[in-house]
Amino acid sequence: MKKSSAWWIRIPVIFFIVLGLTEYFIDSGPLPAIMTYLEVGYFMLFILLLLIGIELIINSIENVMFHTLSEEAQERYLLAQKKAWEWPWAKDMMRKLWGTKPMAEEGEIILDHNYDGIQELDNKLPPWWTYLFYATIIFAVVYLARYHIFNGENQIEEYEQEVAEAQIAIEAYKKTAKDLVDANTVELLTDAADIKAGEAIFQANCVACHMSDGGGGIGPNLTDDYWILGGGIKNVFHTVSEGGRAGKGMIAWKQSLKPQEIAQVSSYVLSLHGITPANPKAPEGDLWKE
Ligand code: HEC
Repeated sequence: MKKSSAWWIRIPVIFFIVLGLTEYFIDSGPLPAIMTYLEVGYFMLFILLLLIGIELIINSIENVMFHTLSEEAQERYLLAQKKAWEWPWAKDMMRKLWGTKPMAEEGEIILDHNYDGIQELDNKLPPWWTYLFYATIIFAVVYLARYHIFNGENQIEEYEQEVAEAQIAIEAYKKTAKDLVDANTVELLTDAADIKAGEAIFQANCVACHMSDGGGGIGPNLTDDYWILGGGIKNVFHTVSEGGRAGKGMIAWKQSLKPQEIAQVSSYVLSLHGITPANPKAPEGDLWKE
């Protein structure tokens, strides 16, 4: 029986074909199926064991059959098998790329000097080397034409272009991801919709201590010009997000409100500035000027 390939080629090839097919047919999102589903791992392990099992069975059948052969047939079988292990195509390719002369033909290329028994072969340059050399020449011509005659983009220009594209992408992303704001980047919101949303959040969470008109109770008056923790959208955002001084009762609202909501309620608080609350609490803190 003549084998066309060795087991160490057959097993991995079949294994990876099966793996490839499984990955192709099982939709597992961005991660490979074998990492997403445990069953796929078990399945592939099963396939591997199955392949090894088949190889073992084939091997033992061959073994048994071998012993039934006559001595002469056994010898022929062994010879055929040895041949099957050789890979004529690769061998041929190798010989062509290295261009070495077989030892038996070295006499043709030996140079006729002889220094104390040391002789020299006039080997040609190995073809793989010359091909590589020709490839660099072709590359150089294309490169020269592209960058020095037709003024292709150089790396600095490519870099700047990519940065500009990324900047646009960041802007677009920021528009959709409003929750990216923090105390450093927040801007006062003036949209009626934002102020209205801020009012709803204020009425739901803050009136117990600041009163519904912001006049103050347990918490300070939010409508006057005096701020304990600093006025302006950035400070107010920071106070609402991180809370007041320890033990005063103003908690860190970032636990329960999203950044965008904090921006809305902070903007609402600042929109209360200057109104006259029903029961204004006396000013606390320092006079704040923008
Ligand atoms: C449990 C009571 C309580 C609740 C509820 C509460 N606060 Fe406060 N708030 C306080 C207290 C007390 C202070 C003063 C903190 C300090 O002195 O450090 C304060 C301070 C503030 C300040 C800073 C005032 C300044 O003068 O610097 C802002 C702004 C503020 N609160 C907004 C809010 C908003 C918005 C909410 C709702 C999301 C809210 N608070 C809910 C009690 C509360």
